[in-house]
Amino acid sequence: MENSVTVRSPATVSNVVCGFDCLGFALREPFDEVRVTLSSQLGIRISHTDGLGLPSDPLKNVAGAAIAALQSRLTDGVGFDIQIHKGIRPGSGIGSSAASSCGAVVAADRLLGGRFKPAELVEFALAGEELASGSRHADNAAPCVFGGFVLVRSTRPLDIVELAHPPLYATVLHPQIEVKTSDARAVLPREVPLASAVRNWSNLGAFVAALASGDLELMSRAMQDDIVEPARMALIPGFHNARQAGLEAGAIGGGISGSGPSIFMLSADERTASSVADAMSVSYAATGLDFRVYISEVGGSAAAE
Ligand code: HSE
Repeated sequence: MENSVTVRSPATVSNVVCGFDCLGFALREPFDEVRVTLSSQLGIRISHTDGLGLPSDPLKNVAGAAIAALQSRLTDGVGFDIQIHKGIRPGSGIGSSAASSCGAVVAADRLLGGRFKPAELVEFALAGEELASGSRHADNAAPCVFGGFVLVRSTRPLDIVELAHPPLYATVLHPQIEVKTSDARAVLPREVPLASAVRNWSNLGAFVAALASGDLELMSRAMQDDIVEPARMALIPGFHNARQAGLEAGAIGGGISGSGPSIFMLSADERTASSVADAMSVSYAATGLDFRVYISEVGGSAAAE
């Protein structure tokens, strides 16, 4: 049996505008690389090769929390050495914590001979998500483990629905500022008007139908959010103009990626996604903030290298 496995664990876009906390998709890049080694020495040890200064204490590290959740289901006397190289910046809004948590449990499961179902791996990864943000949202972890687009119908118990989708390309502009998920959740309304709720679930239903049918015009109309985005927009300088530029360059739709600050747009093909990247870059340069742009096909998942 293998003793060490390295997993490439991709960035994910959650919420997807109309599915707060329940809809997400995986990219192919950027990704974290998580190497897990089985050890006869009990316990969990974490090291980093990226110089980002993330915690090595397994109780404070999201991958440590996820592996501890997995380990609590084992009767074998094994320990885990985890080496993390982050390609996804923490606080970027593209599922950085989920990528590390999911990468660790996918690698550990492979080393253990594939004992757990994908939904169980997501459950373990949620221990990392709770540590990172104080909330048990699975809309990054589920697409990271399952790949492609997923809907999280429930988190207690976990009920994950994989969604078929047409070929899609994502453009992600990541302003080099950090927005903590816990802060971005603190600005959300505690109660919402019924009319706004109706508009949001109508849009989510339409979006899921558009994924299944490939109706990109319906998808475009459905990418609206009356509840979460209006409350968070103020946390992201240049958001409105960057999205507008992306739409004018031919994107289907887009908005805040997860809890921000990244801004994502979906396009029907790679060439449009590239024009969208150019238009958003020109728009965002006006903010004077540093930023990075990624273009990726939708459809990656955490998998061994
Ligand atoms: N759905 C979560 C939120 C994702 O928007 O707060 C956080 O990454």
